[in-house]
Amino acid sequence: MDAMKLLGTDAVGVGDRDLRFGYARLHDRAEHDKLPLVSANLLLKSTKLPAFEASVIRKVGTVNVGVFGLISDKADFGPARDSLIATDPAVTAKKMVADLRKRGATVVVLLSQLGKVETEDLVTAVDGIDVAIMGRNVGLVQKGRLIKSAIAVYGGEQGQYMGRTVVTLDGARRNKSVESEMFMLGPEVGEKKEVAALVQGFEDKFNEKLRVKEKEQAVKQATQTAQNEPDHYVGDEVCARCHQAESDQWKTTAHARAWQTLVDKKKDATPDCVPCHVLGYDKAGGFANASATPKLVNVQCENCHGMGTGHQAFPARSAKLTEQVCITCHTSNTSPTFNFSTYEPHILHKFTGKLPVLPPKPTGSMGGE
Ligand code: HEC
Ligand code: HEC
Ligand code: HEC
Ligand code: HEC
Repeated sequence: MDAMKLLGTDAVGVGDRDLRFGYARLHDRAEHDKLPLVSANLLLKSTKLPAFEASVIRKVGTVNVGVFGLISDKADFGPARDSLIATDPAVTAKKMVADLRKRGATVVVLLSQLGKVETEDLVTAVDGIDVAIMGRNVGLVQKGRLIKSAIAVYGGEQGQYMGRTVVTLDGARRNKSVESEMFMLGPEVGEKKEVAALVQGFEDKFNEKLRVKEKEQAVKQATQTAQNEPDHYVGDEVCARCHQAESDQWKTTAHARAWQTLVDKKKDATPDCVPCHVLGYDKAGGFANASATPKLVNVQCENCHGMGTGHQAFPARSAKLTEQVCITCHTSNTSPTFNFSTYEPHILHKFTGKLPVLPPKPTGSMGGE
């Protein structure tokens, strides 16, 4: 919300996801940022008064643009379900179009949290909406979809796109044509420094919170650490005692730095990130957290060779480690450029040929961050 405010957002439609932390929290936060949340059909159960502003009118050039919001009346409002109700979207839409026109709006924009099908049905049934911006599990709509004289658009998830919708008016100031296009916000757009700082601030705080939780857990777990399991991981230092050469080579690979990568990104306490950057995450005798199992950080010997306590059973020299071992972590998401034949030489302990050059990481993948 801080970022939306910073970008000069004129109106934000309220969706059921926004109510995840309850009504009061959302309302107070929006007040704090003076961010205009709009919802025409979301009412307080107790008083039947609107929970937010129903609409806003903004002057664009010499034209008044009216914006109103609708939320699905079938949605579960979670912690807000006892305090809020939603009235019928179509009935409310008819009233809102009339109301906005009466108040001088030339162009009417609906911020819809009804999903794609219901939004399109509503725009078909209710005249006078020029632009419907759809949310709630709607896939990207690249060019917008014309419905009578209106257009239905959706800009994709997670702020990866920016949409531009052009409404052309005729001499009588009626909607003559409308078109819309989404633009991907690729790396060429660059970051807005203030927004990047907000995101970083949020992540640091969140990570710190998880770290505190982790410390509490570590104390609990101290009595039953990994090493008490009959089968457990022993960590690379033990292997190095007898396999010095392999260990020296391993230390030169990215795998031996995988933990530091997360620490640098302040993601070392984030459950979404840790599993592939440590040894035996969530497995008996594996990594629990950095305080309880400090020797089980990084992608180590045993990630590829199996638990040290099973050493006798390690494959005989002739057995080959296959791609299967790698792709548990090198998935199409985390390692889009992964190719066993070019990647493997980089981790082989005794590779003597010319190392294949690894392709550059596409932006958006983790390596391209
Ligand atoms: C437990 C998860 C895991 C397994 C199993 C794993 N990797 Fe990795 N690999 C990683 C992570 C995480 C990184 C990134 C480390 C870093 O730079 O922080 C990485 C990085 C690499 C890199 C360096 C890429 C670069 O651009 O520098 C190569 C090469 C590689 N892995 C090859 C392999 C191969 C081949 C296998 C299978 C034999 C394998 N890995 C198995 C997690 C894993
Ligand atoms: C499914 C396993 C997996 C998960 C989960 C995972 N990573 Fe990775 N990560 C990898 C692999 C594999 C690589 C190496 C990719 C390559 O080089 O092709 C990697 C590479 C990276 C790199 C690039 C390292 C470098 O120096 O180039 C960063 C940064 C990174 N991961 C951070 C994260 C963060 C942050 C998260 C959580 C949002 C995360 N990872 C979750 C497997 C994973
Ligand atoms: C006390 C010494 C010792 C320790 C500790 C040890 N190994 Fe071994 N390892 C051996 C010996 C000896 C062999 C058999 C060597 C041979 O046949 O050349 C072997 C064989 C292996 C093999 C099979 C090699 C092959 O010939 O196919 C792998 C893989 C291996 N060890 C990995 C590990 C890993 C991973 C660890 C740590 C979890 C570890 N070792 C710890 C002594 C040790
Ligand atoms: C990314 C996966 C990976 C990691 C991590 C890894 N190894 Fe290996 N290791 C391999 C592969 C692949 C081979 C070669 C086996 C083959 O050719 O089939 C191998 C072979 C070996 C062998 C057999 C002798 C040799 O040099 O070929 C030993 C011993 C060994 N590794 C020990 C270790 C030790 C000790 C560590 C940690 C310090 C380690 N490995 C880390 C994948 C890995």
